[in-house]
Amino acid sequence: MKKLGMGWTFVLIVIAGLVVGYQTGQVRAQTPVPTEDVVWGARLYDDWSEVKGVALPPGSHPIWARQSTNTLSGAETWRCVTCHGWDYQGKDGAWGSGANYTGFPGIYAARTLPAATLIRILNGNPDPEHDFSPYLSAAEIQALVTFIREGVVDERDYIDLVSRKVIRGDVAHGQALYTQTCAACHGPDGRKITFRYQGMQVSLASLAVQDPWRFLHRTRFGVARAPEMPIGAILGWSAQDGRDVLAYAQTLPSGLEPQVTPPLAGREPTPAALPGGPAQNLVTGILTALGAIATSLGFALLLGGLLVGILLVVVWMLRSRK
Ligand code: HEC
Ligand code: HEC
Repeated sequence: MKKLGMGWTFVLIVIAGLVVGYQTGQVRAQTPVPTEDVVWGARLYDDWSEVKGVALPPGSHPIWARQSTNTLSGAETWRCVTCHGWDYQGKDGAWGSGANYTGFPGIYAARTLPAATLIRILNGNPDPEHDFSPYLSAAEIQALVTFIREGVVDERDYIDLVSRKVIRGDVAHGQALYTQTCAACHGPDGRKITFRYQGMQVSLASLAVQDPWRFLHRTRFGVARAPEMPIGAILGWSAQDGRDVLAYAQTLPSGLEPQVTPPLAGREPTPAALPGGPAQNLVTGILTALGAIATSLGFALLLGGLLVGILLVVVWMLRSRK
C-alpha cells in the first residue's frame, strides 16, 4: 500500500517534471538539490584547503594521533578523504587494511542522518576534536552535508574489492564517453597528463586500476587543481556512466601489465619504507640501480669539475707569474 503510494507520487513527479521541461522547451533531469552544492561539497571533502586556497594549521589533525597504522602526517591528515576514504566506507571499505588503514569510520552510513546532526558533527559535537568550524564557513559545512546526504555512492556491488575491476561495466559505452569528453586533455591512451599517486607519477589508466574509487569521485565531481575539467555530475552523468568510463580506462595501457594482479590495498611499500631500503620488487630494484648510476654520475661530474677548477688555478698562477 505504502509502496504503491510512493510509486504513484514518483510517476506524478516525473510527469510534472516532463511538463515543466517541455514548457520551457528543454527536458532536463529535475534534481531536488542543486548539483553545484553536491559538487562543491564533494570537492571540499577531497581537499578543502586546496578548494579554498587557505593554509592549514601546522602539524597533523588532532584526531590523527588516535591511530598509528597510517604513516601519513601533516597536510594530508586534514582532508576528510584521508580519514573517511574515496569509497566513503572508511575502515569498512578499500582502506579496511594496508597502509591507508586508520580504523576510522566511513561517511556512507551517516548519509541517512538528519542534516542538523551532520552539521553538529562537523562543528565538534559530540567530538570536540572533529570541529571544522574554525576553518569552514557555515555555507561550506552545509555543502559538505549536502554532499554526504545526496552525493555519496555505494560502489560495493560495482567494484571488486580485491581485483579493483569494475563489475558489469559497459566498456564500449565508456569508450564513447571517454573519446567525447576526456581524450582531448588526457590523450586517447590516458597518458597525456600524469598524477601523483602513492609517491609516483602515474597515468590515468594506472590510477583507474589502482584506485578506482578516487577515479570515480574525481570524474564525478572534478578536481580542485583542474577547474577546466568537465564534471560528470554537471554533465548529467549517471553513476553507471562514471563506472563505464572507469571500466574503459582500466583497459588502457597502465604500465602495470607485467604484474599478474594490481597490488592489494596497502601492499605497496609505504613511502617511508623506500628511501635507502633494499629493493623490494623489480620496479624499486630498477629505481635503486638508476639511483646508484645517478649518484656515481654525479660524483664523476663533481670530480671533473674539481680537476678543471685546479687546472684553471694553475694556469692563472703561471700567467700571473709572468
Ligand atoms: C583526522 C581524521 C578525520 C578527519 C580529517 C575528518 N574526520 Fe570525520 N570522523 C573521524 C572520526 C574518528 C569519526 C568518528 C567519530 C569521532 O570520533 O569523531 C568521524 C566521524 C564523522 C562523521 C560521522 C560518521 C558516523 O557514521 O557517525 C561524519 C559525517 C564525518 N566524520 C565527516 C567528516 C567530514 C565531512 C570531514 C572533512 C571536513 C571529516 N569528517 C574529517 C575522523 C576524521
Ligand atoms: C580540459 C581538460 C580536461 C578534460 C577534458 C578532462 N580532464 Fe581530467 N584532468 C585534467 C587536469 C588538468 C587534471 C589534473 C592534473 C593534476 O593533477 O594537476 C585532471 C585530473 C583528472 C583526474 C584525477 C587524477 C588524480 O590525481 O586523482 C581524473 C580521475 C580525471 N582527470 C578523469 C577525467 C575524465 C574521466 C575525463 C572525461 C570525463 C576528464 N578527466 C576530462 C584535465 C582534463
